[in-house]
Formats: sequence, structure tokens, C-alpha cells
Amino acid sequence: MSASYEVRDGVAVITMNNPPVNGLGYDTRVAMADGLARAQADAAVKAIVLTGAGKAFSGGADIREFGSPKAIAEPNLLTLIRMAELCGKPIVAAIHSVCMGGGLELALGCHYRVVSPGTQVALPEVKIGLIPGAGGTQRLPRVLGLETALNMIVSGEPVKSELLAMQPGQKLFDKLVDGDLMAGAIAFAQEVAGKPLPPLVRDLKVSHPNREAYIQFARNMVKGMSKNFPAPAKCVDAVEYSLTRKFDDGMAGEREIFTALMFTPEAKALRHAFLGERAASKIPDVPESTPVRDIKKVGVIGAGTMGGGISMNFLNAGVPVTILEMKQEALDRGVATIRKNYEAQVKKGKLKQDKYDQRMALLSTTLSYDDLKDCDLIIEAVFEELGVKETVFKTLDAVAKPGAILASNTSTLDVDKIAAFTKRPQDVVGMHFFSPANVMKLLEVVRGKATAKDVLATVMAIGKKIKKTAVVSGVCDGFIGNRMIEQYSRQAGFLLDEGCTPAQVDKAIEKFGFAMGPFRMGDLAGNDIGWAIRKRRAIEHPGMRYSKTADLLCEMGRYGQKTQAGWYDYQAGKRDAIPSAKVDQMIADYRKEQGITPRKVSDEEIVQRLVFALVNEAAKILEEGIANKASDIDMVYLTGYGFPLHRGGPLCYADQVGLYNVVSTMKRFAANPHDDASFWQPAPLLAKLAAEGKSFT
Ligand code: NAI
Repeated sequence: MSASYEVRDGVAVITMNNPPVNGLGYDTRVAMADGLARAQADAAVKAIVLTGAGKAFSGGADIREFGSPKAIAEPNLLTLIRMAELCGKPIVAAIHSVCMGGGLELALGCHYRVVSPGTQVALPEVKIGLIPGAGGTQRLPRVLGLETALNMIVSGEPVKSELLAMQPGQKLFDKLVDGDLMAGAIAFAQEVAGKPLPPLVRDLKVSHPNREAYIQFARNMVKGMSKNFPAPAKCVDAVEYSLTRKFDDGMAGEREIFTALMFTPEAKALRHAFLGERAASKIPDVPESTPVRDIKKVGVIGAGTMGGGISMNFLNAGVPVTILEMKQEALDRGVATIRKNYEAQVKKGKLKQDKYDQRMALLSTTLSYDDLKDCDLIIEAVFEELGVKETVFKTLDAVAKPGAILASNTSTLDVDKIAAFTKRPQDVVGMHFFSPANVMKLLEVVRGKATAKDVLATVMAIGKKIKKTAVVSGVCDGFIGNRMIEQYSRQAGFLLDEGCTPAQVDKAIEKFGFAMGPFRMGDLAGNDIGWAIRKRRAIEHPGMRYSKTADLLCEMGRYGQKTQAGWYDYQAGKRDAIPSAKVDQMIADYRKEQGITPRKVSDEEIVQRLVFALVNEAAKILEEGIANKASDIDMVYLTGYGFPLHRGGPLCYADQVGLYNVVSTMKRFAANPHDDASFWQPAPLLAKLAAEGKSFT
């Protein structure tokens, strides 16, 4: 039963009960329809209160039913709302905590709405590439006015109920109830019972003194802000119907737009990312009931680039942090950077002074491991050298309390080897943050051979607490993200060899939607990092082919922005990438030496070669079990590597292109003498899925 029914003092109370947020799934809808019918038939019932149990009034559609026939089975949401409107007895929606999407649309079909302060009210459909589909675009403007409603629908952002209730002329809420909401709602219902029913929201009129100009203004704004997504502009169209059409015609228009958007690649991509984010926290062999360890205090070793950012995540979440370094100067430098970052936020008005003070008060520093004795989680972010990690983990093993989680932020080293430096490999795990660690959403959680399930569950929960997208990766060189990016970078190099300039490659992939092309990225991160990795690779995997241009660039001392010269030239103090004649010459000389006649490469080929390089490696990662599922890989790329959100990640994109087409294109690339034929050998999983007409996701 996912909605309960009871009668209290002549008022029928229908309570949605579908944890966690009372999603309007099929069973809930059926139970509510039953409840409405029962209340209507019962002469002793004079009024009805509709509410939600637990943590929400209703969060809207039940995401577990997405795409299944149950999602639209009758009574569907539109039907249910109509039943509420036609019920001859007054229905009071008693709204609290969360009232979003379909939940708000349902409330708008009720005769009255009473609300608790602090309720998050939103129509967030635009965030998954849609518009509200059960009358939200037609009813919300009727109760909140054109401007407020349009803002909410186009942004999808929640607004607090007390703010909406304060809007002059608003008809969304009839009463703000401080204190006991149910008592207030029942009293309200008794008051209105027996009185003539008020006009329904559908019967109200939307007026605006300057509606055409306002709609035009909104259209221009939206166009500038959402170039890769069709839904925001469609929100404006639908809301305009609330002004220009009769209610039922407006509803028909909303439905038409909703249905058309549902099948756009952008909506599919956003849905995939939305579900992927939630799915990432689920690990097949680690049940959700796995107990987690209590993390009250965190230690961070190393106050460099990463250690500082990592610490900020915990301070932001209210968790005390102790940073350990080798020298006082290093500690002072690290803390100064943290202060500088917070002060910049205070200056911009993004952080209040008292919050800043609270966060800094949670931070302590030390030069002695003794001070890490009471930490529940210790994250190491020292130099990327196995010898240094060995010293750190052996010391940690000696001092950390039993049950403490020992994590490494290593980006390339073997977490199993690191775990073996301790006598408690079950407590060791990788926590691979991305730079800047206080900003980037991605956290790769690296599961070692011995990592205990409760350690994994704890780290995933901590990831959520510090607002990261935590994705589990097995142990391999580069884990999920960097292992794939290496193949992408190799392709970028081959493209230079064949005739591209760095700027042409960057522009093509940026037009596809990447935040930054590979060469601008290299200049930002420092080309010397890849250089060091390639030198190591040359020892570990001799014979792997790649363009030598990146090494030659580093030999010229062109490390990137930090040396004011990389793939591009830079002017002092500026970050604008200026194409470099010196680099063009170096590439041309290299081609000559290799006997390559440059050719014109199309932007389409550039994009396909870079993206399919990611896809093929991803297929291997999936097949080897390094990633648990395709959507995990997409989440890594969306949250850590600037892959365009409207394409849903490399594997979602490959599915949309069609795996048969991906494989055929790869075969064509394999025939290119300047590329590497073995590179384009489709991964067995990719070949299999393509042959069977299946997809990754
Ligand atoms: P960094 O060089 O900025 O900072 C390292 C800090 O560790 C230095 O302040 C150093 O004094 C300190 N340190 C070295 N040995 C120590 C020891 N035995 N005990 C205490 N402190 C010690 O390096 P960064 O960039 O912060 O990298 C740290 C780790 O994070 C590395 O494993 C790296 O691979 C990884 N990583 C780096 C990323 C980046 O973009 N920089 C991204 C993701 C991971």
C-alpha cells in the first residue's frame, strides 16, 4: 500500500507513502485514486487532506519507473489531477519538506494548499531535458504570475515556500503553517468544509502588463544560456500558452512539447546522467545495508595542491581535519592557500564570514603522526613516488587506531601495492580526487583486492557527504578516467602527425562540447606531467606507439601556462592560448623526419577519433570489471573530464551513434597507415555488442 487512508473528525486524510520521497509511482497513484473515491462516497467525510509521509510531500515522478509502462499506466498523473479537480469535496494539499515536479502539479490540482515553511518547491523537469508534463507550465503561472513561474520552470531550481508565500498576489499557498502541519491542515479543511468550492487553478487568468516583451526577453536570455539544450526554450513556449491559449489547449500544447522532448538525444543524455549519478553509489556486491564506519575526524597527509583542496571538502561538510606535513613552511603554505581560497569566496559573497571562521576553526596542523592517532579516515596526498608512499603507509600502520580507513590519493600507483605496505590491507582504499579537489565533483574510489566492503560503503557515504560523485574503480594503471584519457591523448598526438594543428584539434572537440581540448588542457595541467608518465611507460610498456611531438615540446621547455609556453604561446598574466609558430615548425619538422605528408583532416574525423578512442578503452575497462557498469564510466567523464553533458558521456554517446557505426568507423581508421592499426582493434565487448545490435547502456 503506497498511500494510506483514514478519517479524522470528518476529514479524510490521504497520505502518500512511497519512500524515500513519495514518488508518484503506479501503486501510489492507484492508492490515491482509491482514497479519493472512498472519501467522495463517504457521506461523513466533508473535506479531504492530501499529504505525504516521511521526508517529503512528494518529489514527483518515481524515477524507478522511468521508461517503463508503469510510469504512464492509468490512473496516470493527469487523470489523478483531474479526479482531484472534479471531486465535489474540498481537497487541501498539506505540503512539507519537498514538493517537486509531479508533486507540485498534483498540489496545483487541489482546491487549497497549506504549507510548512522551509519546503523546497520546484518544477525541476528541465534538468532532465523535459518540461513539466502534467500541467505545471499552465497552472504555475496562474498562481504565481508569469515572471516567477517562468523563472522556476526554466531554471528548475527549488524555491523556499515562505519566499513564495510572501509574493504579492500569489495564489499558490492559502496558508503558511508554522508548527504542526497536519493539525493546521485539518483545521483548515474543517473551516472550508461545506462552503462553496473556490475556483480551480485552471480557471484563473494569467495577466502581465507587458507580456509579449517579457516573453521575448525571456527567450533571448534562455537562448544565450542553454545553447546545447532545447528544453529551456521549450519551457518558454509552453508557459506562453498559459497566456495565449485556453486552458485545455495550453495543456495539449504542453503535452505535445513534452512528448517531443522525451525522445531528443539531449533529454536521453540528461536522464542517463541523472540516473547514472544515483546508480554510481550502488556497488553490486556491497548491499545497501552494509554498516558504515563512523568518520568524525579526518587526517590529510601532504598540504600541497591536492591535500589543501581535499581538506577543504571536509571542512565544508563540518568534519574536523588535521593536516600533516614534513616541514612547518609547507604547512604554513598549505594553510595560506586554503585561507586564500575561502577569502576569495567571502569576497564574492559566496561564503559568509562566520561560516569561514567556523570552517577554519575545524582545521588543525601537525608535524607529528601522533596527532593522527584519533583520526577515523586518513588520506595521503604526498609525492607520487612509491617509496614515499611506502614510508607514509608503514608509519600509518604503526600509529593509526584500529579500524581507521587509510586512503591514498595516488593517481597512477598500484593501490594493492600500497595496501601491502600495511598489515591491514582491508582498511586501505584509493580516494582519487581531481584538481582543484575542492571544486571538481568526481571522486574515483579505488577498490583494492583486499578492501573491505564496509570500507567501500563508508567511503561512498563520505563521498556523498562532501558532495562528490563517487565512482568505484578497480585497480589498474590510471584507473577509469586517466586510463581512458591516455588513449585520447595518443590519438590527439597522431592527429598532429597527420596534419592538424593543436588549435584545430582543440576547436573541433570544443565545438563538440568538451570544456577544453586536449592541448589547451595539457597547457593548463602542465605537459611535464604526461612527459614523466610516458618516460615511466617506456620502461613498463616498451613499444607503445605515440607521437613524439609532446616529448619534443617538453624538451623545448614548453610545459604550458606555468612556463608561459606550451602547445600555445601565452602572454604574461594571461591565459589566452595563442597559436605558436614555433610549435607549428616543430610539428612540421617531426612530420618530415617521419616521412609523413600532411593532409587535411576533417573536424568530424577529429571528434570521432578522440571520442572513439575513449569508447574503445572504456569497453575494455568494462569487460575487465574495472568499472561495474557503463554509466559509471560516463559519470567519470561527465564530472571529471569535461565531457559534454548534453551527450551523456562517451558510452551514452556511442550508443546514440550506434555501436555498429562506431565499429565500422574504427575499421576505417585502422586502415590509415599513420594511425596504429592495433589501436583500432575493437575491444571484444564492443565488437560483440555491435554484432548483436546491442548497446552499452
Ligand atoms: P604536491 O607536490 O603539490 O604536494 C605534495 C605535498 O606532500 C608537498 O607539500 C610535500 O611537502 C608533502 N609531502 C611529501 N612527502 C611527504 C611525507 N612523507 N609526509 C608528509 N608530507 C609529505 O603534489 P600534489 O599535486 O598535491 O599530489 C599529491 C598526490 O595527489 C600525488 O599522489 C598525486 O599523484 C595525486 N594527485 C594529483 C593530482 C593533481 O592534479 N595534482 C590529481 C589527482 C591526484
